[in-house]
Amino acid sequence: MRLAWYWLCGFFTLLIIASHHSSSSCPLEHKQALLQFKNLLTASYFYDELSSWNLSGDDCCSWVSVNCDLESPLKPVTELHLSSIIPKYVGFNMVSLLPLFHIQSLLFLDLQDNSLFGNIPGELGNLTSLVYLDMSHNYARSENIPPQIYGMKNLRHLDLSANLVAGSLSRKISNLSNLEYLNLGSNYLVGSIPPEIGKLFQLHYLDLSGNQLGGEIPMSISELTELQHLDLGLNSLSGSISHFRTMNARLEYLSLYYNNLSGEIPLWLFDLPNLNYLLLGSNSVSLNSAALIHPKFNIKYLDLVSCNISGGIPSWLSQLTYLSYLYLSDNKLSGGIPLWLCKLELVEIDISSNNLTGPLLPCLLESKTLHIISLSGNSLSGELPSKISNATVVRYIILSHNNFSGELPKCITGATNLMRLDLSNNKLSGEIFTKFGFESSLAYLKLSFNDFSGELPLNFGANIETIILSDNGFSGKLLMNFSSMPKLRMIDLHTNRLTGEMPDSLGILKSLNILNLRNNHLYGRIPDSFANLTEMRIIDLSNNRLNGTIPPYFANISGMIKNDLMTVIHSGGNDVTVNWKGSFQVMQADESMRHTTLDLSDNDLSGEIPKYLGQLKCLKSLNLSHNNINGVIPPSIGLLENLESLDLSHNKLSGEIPNLFGINLHDLTTLDLSNNMLTGRIPEEGQISKLVDPNIYANNTGLCGTLIEVSCASPPGEVEDEEGIQLTWDAVFLGYVYGLAWALWLAYFFEIVGQNLIHDVFYRRRNQPNKLLGC
Ligand SMILES: *[C@@H]1O[C@H](CO)[C@@H](O)[C@H](O)[C@H]1NC(C)=O
Ligand SMILES: *[C@@H]1O[C@H](CO)[C@@H](O)[C@H](O)[C@H]1NC(C)=O
Ligand SMILES: *[C@@H]1O[C@H](CO)[C@@H](O)[C@H](O)[C@H]1NC(C)=O
Ligand SMILES: *[C@@H]1O[C@H](CO)[C@@H](O)[C@H](O)[C@H]1NC(C)=O
Ligand SMILES: *[C@@H]1O[C@H](CO)[C@@H](O)[C@H](O)[C@H]1NC(C)=O
Ligand SMILES: *[C@@H]1O[C@H](CO)[C@@H](O)[C@H](O)[C@H]1NC(C)=O
Ligand SMILES: *[C@@H]1O[C@H](CO)[C@@H](O)[C@H](O)[C@H]1NC(C)=O
Ligand SMILES: *[C@@H]1O[C@H](CO)[C@@H](O)[C@H](O)[C@H]1NC(C)=O
Ligand SMILES: *[C@@H]1O[C@H](CO)[C@@H](O)[C@H](O)[C@H]1NC(C)=O
Ligand SMILES: *[C@@H]1O[C@H](CO)[C@@H](O)[C@H](O)[C@H]1NC(C)=O
Ligand SMILES: *[C@@H]1O[C@H](CO)[C@@H](O)[C@H](O)[C@H]1NC(C)=O
Ligand SMILES: *[C@@H]1O[C@H](CO)[C@@H](O)[C@H](O)[C@H]1NC(C)=O
Repeated sequence: MRLAWYWLCGFFTLLIIASHHSSSSCPLEHKQALLQFKNLLTASYFYDELSSWNLSGDDCCSWVSVNCDLESPLKPVTELHLSSIIPKYVGFNMVSLLPLFHIQSLLFLDLQDNSLFGNIPGELGNLTSLVYLDMSHNYARSENIPPQIYGMKNLRHLDLSANLVAGSLSRKISNLSNLEYLNLGSNYLVGSIPPEIGKLFQLHYLDLSGNQLGGEIPMSISELTELQHLDLGLNSLSGSISHFRTMNARLEYLSLYYNNLSGEIPLWLFDLPNLNYLLLGSNSVSLNSAALIHPKFNIKYLDLVSCNISGGIPSWLSQLTYLSYLYLSDNKLSGGIPLWLCKLELVEIDISSNNLTGPLLPCLLESKTLHIISLSGNSLSGELPSKISNATVVRYIILSHNNFSGELPKCITGATNLMRLDLSNNKLSGEIFTKFGFESSLAYLKLSFNDFSGELPLNFGANIETIILSDNGFSGKLLMNFSSMPKLRMIDLHTNRLTGEMPDSLGILKSLNILNLRNNHLYGRIPDSFANLTEMRIIDLSNNRLNGTIPPYFANISGMIKNDLMTVIHSGGNDVTVNWKGSFQVMQADESMRHTTLDLSDNDLSGEIPKYLGQLKCLKSLNLSHNNINGVIPPSIGLLENLESLDLSHNKLSGEIPNLFGINLHDLTTLDLSNNMLTGRIPEEGQISKLVDPNIYANNTGLCGTLIEVSCASPPGEVEDEEGIQLTWDAVFLGYVYGLAWALWLAYFFEIVGQNLIHDVFYRRRNQPNKLLGC
């Protein structure tokens, strides 16, 4: 019996093989189209994985990534699975796709994530049979959604997300009546959402997030009775959220966050039985705090940021047993942290920028699920629970801008997964006794603006990248063992009472980008080992007692010479790994990370300005003021074409102001050369001629020029008239103002860099192509 069965199977298999021999391979024109495509593709990049696409391979149906309709006698090509076939930063032009558009039998085309660039060809519309089109995560450009797409009536799945598609969404979208999945998120769409969208009755997934769509949300959306996923977040939609009518009960995901919606959040939303994700934050909506909400949904992710919620943390949240992600920042919540919060199995909680009082509940730290705790910007007080040492799960603890006092728990290293600890702007005091071992996972430590004192620990663990301990009372020498902290990128110890010499061992920190030791009592020479710190972009050693000369090798700091794409990616400052919609993603630091500063002001430096400093082409700010620097201003300083601020005042510089200043410093808006011994004519060409404040040049021995109303004909030395003395005092004041402005900017900068980016807008443009940066 079994034998007969085998025999039958074998017979039918033979039959099938035989029948397929009727047409032994795919249509010739399909094969040719595919080979043409491959040739265009490999013209610019050798692509090995399509090696099976070749002339000797007879049947293109057997090629990798190609599927045919084997039931049909002609065996036409129906599916092309071409996602991620090209590595990042290589990319290929859209026109390479043209041959593929001849394969009219195509039903399925996946081109996701190929760094495709150029305009979307209208010929795409030739693929009228297409059911599934995914072109997401490319650099596809289009001034509008190509009108031909609206003719592709068979489409059920259309994904153009994360591209460069501009223009507005046409009413013709209603032609695509078979659409089940539509994703146009993270593009540059403008205008309003056409009401015709409500005619796409099959739609169960709609994502238009991360565009610039305005106007009101069309009422017709509520007619989409199959809809399970609706994402309109990160746009400029306006109107009242209360006009939003009852959505169908299938809805699982609703995101309207980061828009300009107003009005009161309709309570029926809380009755949707299948809703897992609800994101309404960062609008101007409010939730009636007095409303009695009995949530029916099994919500997992709840974003009610800036929803004007007052009173205590709403107790109905305690019923949400599936809640994992809770964002309530920027509301008016008051009172203490309720105990029931510990009973929920939260993964992330952010209740920052509210008015919470009382202590931090130790039970939160003992949670077996919580990864991120952010309670910054409240009035929480008391000591930090020593339970921190038993917090084995938590990764981020962000408690800045509160009223915590007492000492740092001795064993914070017991928190074995802790990556980020921000306790800045509290009233913490005492010494740091913690011994950070090699095994510590801490990458980011911010304790600035507290009253810590004593000596700094020798190290902060092998994984530390950022140390911000500024504005405390730390004293003693800088004895840190930098060789045990090889990943350091940022050290900010400004405004403490550190003394001693700058340690030579700093030179080990090859990845260091930012070093701020401003306003301490450091003395001695700038160590030679600085020559190794080639990735530096911000150096601030001002207001110490450093002496000796400015090391010539500052000119090798390539972070200040070039600032191209790769340096930004590799040295990209404080990239933050955040949990976004359930997965960890790296966010690149803000634009401001591209600033470059060298500030050695207010020290005791002597000798000349190294002439090679002019190589630091990307330098935006150079401050050497208030030292004892002598010699001439090297003409090469005039080559710092990105310089915006230059302060050489209060030194002993002599000679003339190089003419190059007038010609190359296009961006210079702040200049101070006062209180030196400069002579000769003040350059009157280019940008420098626009800086018309005579105080820039005050108190020099022999400058002349129309700006300071000293004729260059008269011999130098006769400048000392009444006006000259007037200038002197103005200069003092001006120098002060510039200095202050700069200090404030730096303070602001360090604040920004240190920020926690859990809920960050940068996500919005995460998918934008990286442009090459120059400087
Ligand atoms: C051509 O493709 C066939 C498979 O279709 C493969 O076995 C052969 O190695 C390929 N030839 C070259 C030169 O890559
Ligand atoms: C698209 O179709 C038009 C008209 O059917 C035809 O002339 C054209 O050659 C086709 N283009 C491509 C790239 O298939
Ligand atoms: C959309 O459909 C209408 C009517 O069905 C038709 O007249 C129109 O040509 C279609 N538009 C496109 C772009 O296919
Ligand atoms: C937001 O909406 C208000 C009216 O509710 C309007 O005045 C304002 O201009 C809108 N802002 C933006 C950025 O669209
Ligand atoms: C915020 O809520 C309060 C009541 O708690 C209300 O008086 C106020 O109008 C609300 N603000 C906005 C902008 O809705
Ligand atoms: C915060 O709460 C305190 C009392 O608990 C109150 O005095 C204060 O006005 C509140 N601040 C804000 C901004 O609501
Ligand atoms: C941490 O846990 C251990 C055992 O699990 C316990 O003995 C110890 O007291 C706890 N420490 C704190 C500070 O709770
Ligand atoms: C902060 O705590 C101190 C006591 O440590 C207390 O005197 C002060 O009132 C608190 N300030 C606020 C704003 O809660
Ligand atoms: C500094 O750290 C390195 C690497 O961890 C270690 O080998 C060395 O002994 C330490 N030096 C001091 C003085 O602790
Ligand atoms: C620099 O300062 C140190 C300590 O203050 C001193 O010993 C040394 O002589 C000074 N060097 C110069 C060149 O002034
Ligand atoms: C600079 O780095 C090299 C290794 O790349 C090392 O041998 C040298 O000691 C370092 N120089 C200083 C001054 O730290
Ligand atoms: C400017 O020069 C005058 C006269 O020599 C001197 O008294 C004054 O201190 C100088 N100003 C500054 C800020 O050094």
